[in-house]
Formats: sequence, C-alpha cells, structure tokens
Amino acid sequence: MRFFLDSANVAEIEEAWEGGLIAGVTTNPSLVAKEGKDFHALLKVIAGIVDGPISAEVLDTTAEGMVIEARVLARVSPNIVVKLPVTAEGLKAARTLSRDKPPIATNVTLVFTPMQALLAARAGAAYVSPFVGRLDDIGQDGLQLVGDICRIFEQHEVDCRVIAASIRHPVHALQAALLGAHFATVPFAVLRQLLKHPLTDAGIERFLADWRSSGLSH
Ligand code: E4P
Repeated sequence: MRFFLDSANVAEIEEAWEGGLIAGVTTNPSLVAKEGKDFHALLKVIAGIVDGPISAEVLDTTAEGMVIEARVLARVSPNIVVKLPVTAEGLKAARTLSRDKPPIATNVTLVFTPMQALLAARAGAAYVSPFVGRLDDIGQDGLQLVGDICRIFEQHEVDCRVIAASIRHPVHALQAALLGAHFATVPFAVLRQLLKHPLTDAGIERFLADWRSSGLSH
C-alpha cells in the first residue's frame, strides 16, 4: 500500500512530498474550498511539487459536463487523475474518458458498496475510492468495504486500484494495508501520527544522552 495525501494545502503537500511520505495527492471540492484559491491555479502549483497522481474532482453532474471538465483538468498536468462520483452519469463519463486517446485516468469516488466499486472498475475507472470513515459514522463497517472490494478485484482479476479514503486515524490505515488496499489517502494529521511513536523519540534521546556522557568524539 502507498500513501496519498488527502489535502489541497500547498504547505502540507510540500512537506509530505519532500519528506518522502506520499506517492500522490487527492483533493475534493470541500478541501479545495477550504483553501480559497483558484482551482486550476492551485492544481498547477500542486503539479509543480508532486510527481505522482493528483486527483481533481469534477463539479458537473451530467456525463457530458463531466467529460468536458475532465478534459480541461487533464490539460493542467499529465499526472492529473479526474475524480468522478459513482453515479450513472459518473460511470458514463469514466467510460468515455477511458477511451480518450490518450485515455484520461479516473478515480471514482464516494464508493459505499462493493458493487459500486465493481461497476466503476468495469466502466473503466483506474481507481476507486471507498470511504471508510463516513461509513463508520453511520454505524457500518468501512474497513469491511475495503476488504470486500480488494477480494473481489483480486478474485476476478479486475484491473483497478483501490484507494482507502475517508481515513480518520492510524488504525484505519493499518487495517487498509492488511486488507490489501493499493493506496490509502490520509489527512496530514494522520500521516504524522503514522510516523510518530513515543518510544522512537525516547530511544533517540537515550542514544544521544549515552553518547554525550561517554565523552567519545564523533
Ligand atoms: C477521498 O478522496 C476524499 O477526499 C476523502 O478521503 C474524504 O474524507 P472525509 O470523509 O474525511 O471528508
């Protein structure tokens, strides 16, 4: 499993990318709205930092409108992946974009059932994003969804990557990795939590203190 940063914040993206923590970025309209910057200009800045997939979501709700938006977004940078909702219109757009020459990679988002994921993959999506946290929020098992999708894709040799999304804490990320998700897209705070352990910090302190008190030179 690789990590994407689920953020549209340039400082966070820069830190995570330069720190070697992420393979790409996912954004959504809510994350972009929080930044208050022009969408395409922001995507250009992100593409100048990140040399991996950058998911950018369409706003139109018709297949025709989504395809137009997607083609414009794809022109921003070759590593843009167009995010489409898992609706009939969204899948129609995914199918069209997968047949573009060259094809435009899509990430079908807001996936809440295994069959939505399978249909999206069959329509030509390169990625599907099951939302773990939002399912947990309504008392369902978000991680089970990730596991089910991974099993189905493996069993039927479906050529589509699974992005565990709506990750709220480190255990979500750990379980997604164990279940076989290809990617987890995580907020910056969770990414930091994944790296941190108090015994690591204490271990560094102890090594340095022992070295200092030995009087040895470096
Ligand atoms: C996925 O690509 C979405 O941007 C994201 O993971 C949604 O997470 P949320 O449920 O925390 O908003």
